[in-house]
Amino acid sequence: MQITFAESTLPKEGAVVVGVLEGRVLTPTASAIDTLTSGSMTRAIAASHFDGQKEQSLILLAPSGLSLTRIVLIGLGKAAELDALALERFGGLAMSHLLAANDTMAAVMVDTIADVPLSLPMMAAHIACGARLRTYRFDKYKTRKENKEKIFLQEFQVRTTDFTAACKAFEGLDKIVDAVFLARTLSSEPANVIYPESFATEVWKLNKLGLVVDVLDEHKVRQLGMNALLAVGQGSARESLLIVLRWLGAKDHEARPLALVGKGVTFDSGGISIKPSAGMGEMKQDMAGAGVVVGVMQSIAACKIPINVVGVVGMVENMPSGTAQRPGDIVTSASGQTIEVLNTDAEGRLVLADSLWYVQEHHHPVLIVDIATLTGAIVTALGANYAGLFSNDDLLAEKLLSAGEAVGERLWRLPLGDSYDRQIESDAADMKNTGDREAGAITAAQFLQRFVCGVPWAHLDIAGVTWSKQDTATVPKGATAFGVRLLERFITEYCNAQEMSRPTERAV
Ligand code: BES
Ligand code: MN
Ligand code: ZN
Repeated sequence: MQITFAESTLPKEGAVVVGVLEGRVLTPTASAIDTLTSGSMTRAIAASHFDGQKEQSLILLAPSGLSLTRIVLIGLGKAAELDALALERFGGLAMSHLLAANDTMAAVMVDTIADVPLSLPMMAAHIACGARLRTYRFDKYKTRKENKEKIFLQEFQVRTTDFTAACKAFEGLDKIVDAVFLARTLSSEPANVIYPESFATEVWKLNKLGLVVDVLDEHKVRQLGMNALLAVGQGSARESLLIVLRWLGAKDHEARPLALVGKGVTFDSGGISIKPSAGMGEMKQDMAGAGVVVGVMQSIAACKIPINVVGVVGMVENMPSGTAQRPGDIVTSASGQTIEVLNTDAEGRLVLADSLWYVQEHHHPVLIVDIATLTGAIVTALGANYAGLFSNDDLLAEKLLSAGEAVGERLWRLPLGDSYDRQIESDAADMKNTGDREAGAITAAQFLQRFVCGVPWAHLDIAGVTWSKQDTATVPKGATAFGVRLLERFITEYCNAQEMSRPTERAV
């Protein structure tokens, strides 16, 4: 499907989308259409429950006086609250109606509205972004046409006065959507298709954007002493890998980077501590954190953000077999700390422990954010509404919280502390890989913190938010790519703040 920008005249055919503000206040184009149709719009609104509240909708078919097939009215809520996120939801909702209809052409009319905090081109760009986010489908394995969702829509036009500026404003957002789609696809692919090596093949392709990609094979990973990561993969027929992606966007290529670390368990059977078979298929997306890191790296490279960022993803498959690690095994991690593996299903933290250590040893980052589908306990605590945030640094936590609010990927901060840390003391080694039943998401974070040395660090537990069971305005059900937009926003804001604080470069 094509998303295009065009002048603000009313099209002659196809579907048209217009907004209505709370209290049934028509936007300029809506009111023009109302006049052209001799008031049928106001009559339709009066005859319905629709009153312009956010995310409400009303469809008028074959309006007399016009050759359009349908007019889709979508509630905008209060003008003053129409921020980027609300407009993306508006676009997403519009798209959901159009995908279900049989028009090949549709146009959304974007007018100036008093009190909206965004410029007209920005409004148009965010509507386009939301609309495109909603078009994502993972149906490549449906080979029979009749089983595929029938989609007629070919072109979605965003019509507005300064459409060239709108088109320009959309460029960056369009690249972020590409990254979201990449992360959604990596997560949706089954584990027989995406395993460490095939994941690496996908990541390789990003070097065309100027990303430096290094794939450390099992031999190299062993040389580096990453035995915790290797222990997870040792039961699998697939080779374990560590993938490092670097974006050197700063003027000074040597400047210390920001670091992103992702959990890349391409399938989590639980290992010898095997999971129950019901629902085990969902564990193909236990590499969602790695997918998000790759997506973010793609978007910052595509947008040429002037900052250095390193992304590290630990790729393994957790399988039971004669070579698998056993409960009770003790492994020596790359940091030198020993771990008693009491539950082979608490594998993500083993992979992250060595990945975190690697990025600090080899890249000396200014800060680290890791992202992982780490615990079922976070699903119990927060459900699908928030991802868990843990951090040793209040400022970093605050920046992540606000980036999440801005893009609609919300985080909830949970505590860390010595009393939780004591839960992972081991009788035989430096630590064990599971706490008790209590506070499972926190003890997992506590475990990770033992591998962080004096650098601001945050951990995002996305186990509850990475897959959605129902459609929302901009996220169709399935893989959400939660974290791509949040981390992209966090990095661009970090970069902007740095630019602001840098003394102006002028001759004294
Ligand atoms: N990958 C799972 C966590 C998970 C659960 C992700 C649900 C997505 C949805 C993780 O590796 C795991 O199995 N965690 C265990 C840890 C326990 C054994 C300490 C859990 O949460 O049950
Ligand atoms: Mn597990
Ligand atoms: Zn897992």
